[in-house]
Amino acid sequence: MSSAPNSTVEPGAEVVHIVGARPNFVKAAPVVAALESRGIRQAVVHTGQHYDDRMSAVFFRELGLPRPDVDLGVGSGSHAAQTAALLVGLEQEFTNRSPAFVIVYGDVNSTLAAALVAAKLHIPVAHVEAGLRSFDWSMPEEVNRRVTDQLSDLCFATSPEAVAHLANEGIAPESVHLVGNPMIDTLLANLDRFDVAALRGTRDLPDTYVAATLHRPANVDDPATVARLVARLHEVADSVDVVMPVHPRGRAAFEAAGLGDHPRVHLLEPLGYVEFVTLVRGSTAVVTDSGGVQEETTILGVPCLTLRPNTERPITITHGTNRLVVESELPGLVAKILAGDALGGTTLAEVPPLWDGRAGERIAAVLAGELG
Ligand code: UD1
Ligand code: UDP
Repeated sequence: MSSAPNSTVEPGAEVVHIVGARPNFVKAAPVVAALESRGIRQAVVHTGQHYDDRMSAVFFRELGLPRPDVDLGVGSGSHAAQTAALLVGLEQEFTNRSPAFVIVYGDVNSTLAAALVAAKLHIPVAHVEAGLRSFDWSMPEEVNRRVTDQLSDLCFATSPEAVAHLANEGIAPESVHLVGNPMIDTLLANLDRFDVAALRGTRDLPDTYVAATLHRPANVDDPATVARLVARLHEVADSVDVVMPVHPRGRAAFEAAGLGDHPRVHLLEPLGYVEFVTLVRGSTAVVTDSGGVQEETTILGVPCLTLRPNTERPITITHGTNRLVVESELPGLVAKILAGDALGGTTLAEVPPLWDGRAGERIAAVLAGELG
């Protein structure tokens, strides 16, 4: 890593990773490690989009990520306010650093802002997790990913569908690389740390439980929607314990709707990566709207009930344990799973192609070729 924040480096010398929100850290870890092992000079710029210890620093401690070279501290705000702060901070940072490549991850506001700034400064952009599409423009992530892909010089895709979407949108095939899934690299690299028996002890977990995590605006921003979800989660909890690490976005709304009032609903603060994936591994089923969790359950073979009308990760349905549901289906589906219909009607076919723990290496190989 380069040392001083905002230091001026010679042009073309350095690859800069932009991370800011929880899923970015999990995806960046294997790419940073693979570039490090090739001796490529790199810096990590944290935008500060997520800033609580449990949403940010814990991932650096657990995943062997180097301390960020700089933290722009943009914090929370409306889309416009947050994106504006990101644009200003990143423009200054890229102007000072003159990176040879900017690497962006996923579909959060930090991703879009970094791609936009880099493109205007004529700095090449590599997008990790390119080509995912929900075809739902009401999701801020869909806007972020579409624009980021158009601005990217290299598109690293996790699935064949993503490659097809990029082709349909006119992205040059030579800039698209199907490399596998870095989030799964991180999962596989840490498998022996996911000790369910130990977590049962430290977190006092019941033998059988459903793990839940919800943070999408469509699920957590409207109090009426939250009230409906809470009623269904309470119905689920009438027959099985529900353990939910609560994302800060929905915390106040879930508390106001009385989610924790049911004796078998256990609300936790956001968990660090190792505890969280262990919680998922030990669960009978997962209720979620997270993108990453749909993928992790696919590899762990845990039934995943995704409270969304669509997914940009259909491979987790065709090749995994994922199923899209509406909240009224939850009690019945969980009852079926508890009764022994192990995957609740989903099937575990075969692991998606290249989800083998080597995506970071493949990305580093392509980048090394570009850097000469
Ligand atoms: C963001 C991403 C979303 C991703 C999610 C992962 C965008 C548009 N959305 O959503 O795609 O799935 O991260 O978790 O980029 N907050 C805290 N502490 C923190 C961070 C956030 O309390 O450390 C609270 C603030 O009240 C903030 C709210 O959470 O306003 C939302 O944070 P924000 O980063 O804007 O979006 P997320 O919902 O986290
Ligand atoms: N995660 C975590 N602790 C939690 C919830 C999630 O470590 O309490 C991890 C999860 O395993 C996955 C990543 O965070 O690797 C996904 O982040 P999130 O669901 O916030 O974002 P999304 O994938 O929906 O963009």
